[in-house]
Amino acid sequence: MTKRLWIETVGCQMNVLDSELVVAALRRQGWELARDGGEADAVFFNTCSVRQHAEDKIYSALGRIRLEKLRRPALVVGVLGCMAQKDQELVRQRAPWVDLVVGPGQLHQVPALVADVLAGGGPRLEVSLDRRGASREEIARSFESYDPDRDPAMRPTPFQAFVRTQTGCDKFCAFCVVPHVRGPEQARAPDTIVAEARKLVAEGCREITLIGQTVNSYRWSAGGRTHRLSDLLALLDAIDGLDRIRFVTNYPRDMTDDLIAAVRDLPKVCPYLHVPAQHGSDAVLARMKRGYTIGEYLEMLGRIRAALPHAAVTSDFIVGYCGETEAEFEATLGLVRSCDFKNSFIFKYSPRPGTKAFERLPDDVPEDLKKERNRLLLEAQAEVSLAGNRRFVGTRRRVLVEGLSPRDERREVQPGPDGVAQLAGRTTCDRIVVFDAPVRLVGRIVDVDIHDAGAWSLAGIVADGLADAVPLARLEGGGTPELHQIAPPRAAAGPAPGV
Ligand code: SAH
Ligand code: F3S
Repeated sequence: MTKRLWIETVGCQMNVLDSELVVAALRRQGWELARDGGEADAVFFNTCSVRQHAEDKIYSALGRIRLEKLRRPALVVGVLGCMAQKDQELVRQRAPWVDLVVGPGQLHQVPALVADVLAGGGPRLEVSLDRRGASREEIARSFESYDPDRDPAMRPTPFQAFVRTQTGCDKFCAFCVVPHVRGPEQARAPDTIVAEARKLVAEGCREITLIGQTVNSYRWSAGGRTHRLSDLLALLDAIDGLDRIRFVTNYPRDMTDDLIAAVRDLPKVCPYLHVPAQHGSDAVLARMKRGYTIGEYLEMLGRIRAALPHAAVTSDFIVGYCGETEAEFEATLGLVRSCDFKNSFIFKYSPRPGTKAFERLPDDVPEDLKKERNRLLLEAQAEVSLAGNRRFVGTRRRVLVEGLSPRDERREVQPGPDGVAQLAGRTTCDRIVVFDAPVRLVGRIVDVDIHDAGAWSLAGIVADGLADAVPLARLEGGGTPELHQIAPPRAAAGPAPGV
């Protein structure tokens, strides 16, 4: 009988992609997706360890699944991803009913492991080597890149896809668990990436987002030639049928002029750069071991602004980091007020076992103060974002229509007889735009006249005529396309976009 899988994913785009690939691999073995956890033969959690809160959520979900497992002992419960790598045996100590614990470097084993468990082989733990436990090469080998063939049906939308450029990270920022749980930085070969992109485009994909922890550190050397991210972008830009290319996340020190020029000169590369600053104070940046000063960050930002005056730049910030004084926090506020970021993702510092900050620096900013600083910074960013978005009122923007707006998604709106609903999409510079239009436009690129701006989104009216003259045969022929909600900005506690 067909087995059914339910998978819950938290965390970053890497996890979204990993889940897509795990599901695709299991579908090739005859599995189907369940409609909910209650009817599933296997329930997987693809986990995140970047902050304590993300782990707490998973452990409480595991607590809830225990009852289901008592009722149906044959149910396979799996913990995949970063928390599996970080906590290892601890997962089963805290939740002994878990059958599978599989780190992000071992996901290729999931189909075989599930089959083992179903055959009565008992619980399995498969993780990669600890970063302090062996040579870099051995550790790197233990984190296998996981990029098997994909299953287009598994993406939230058929016209957008993530493509991995590299796994892991070697920067070791003092606060960050990612290098420990995702392993050493390992690039994929440019021809593999281009081949994957071509295949995606042949399946109807119009927008590709390259993902790497520090995507702009991308380097691939072979046959006496080195490919940097700018070279890779040029190869991808030449693919017929692809409309948009994005890439996240950038590391400030690796934002080289060739990359900025590639964004300026390659028509399909979106003028959108996520380059986290993390903090506004040199002393804190040094305690974070970020490897640059605010002067250097501003110099980099100046080069972006000079070459790409209309590009959207976004950032991440951590508030309440070890020893953060009032004056240091004020420096972050000042940076946000002066940098014209399109938006910022703001996080309260969460100490992560295994990191340098955890081992050497006390987590001494009280939770209430972290919350207050988070609120103040979000408020400052909201003002900057609103002013930035207001500049778009009265202009016409090209928008890739992604699905129902969060408002209509929440209301579970059924499109009217003419198929009109409030839809949402993004501009090339990653601004969310909402507008009323027929749902058949999902997956199309349209021109929208912007008449209103909020801090997190724009509102407009579809201009006459479609921007993309060539209809997507699949969407036209296939009736109503699959609808999904586009993600609100990650800004902790930020208001949802839309009206
Ligand atoms: N390069 C990665 C970074 C992963 S973590 C990416 O964006 O894909 C994402 C963000 O989480 C970081 O930029 C940082 O702002 C935040 N973060 C990382 N570790 C954290 C911690 N221990 N506490 C709070 N925020 C953290
Ligand atoms: Fe984390 Fe710093 Fe790498 S934030 S992902 S260690 S660049």
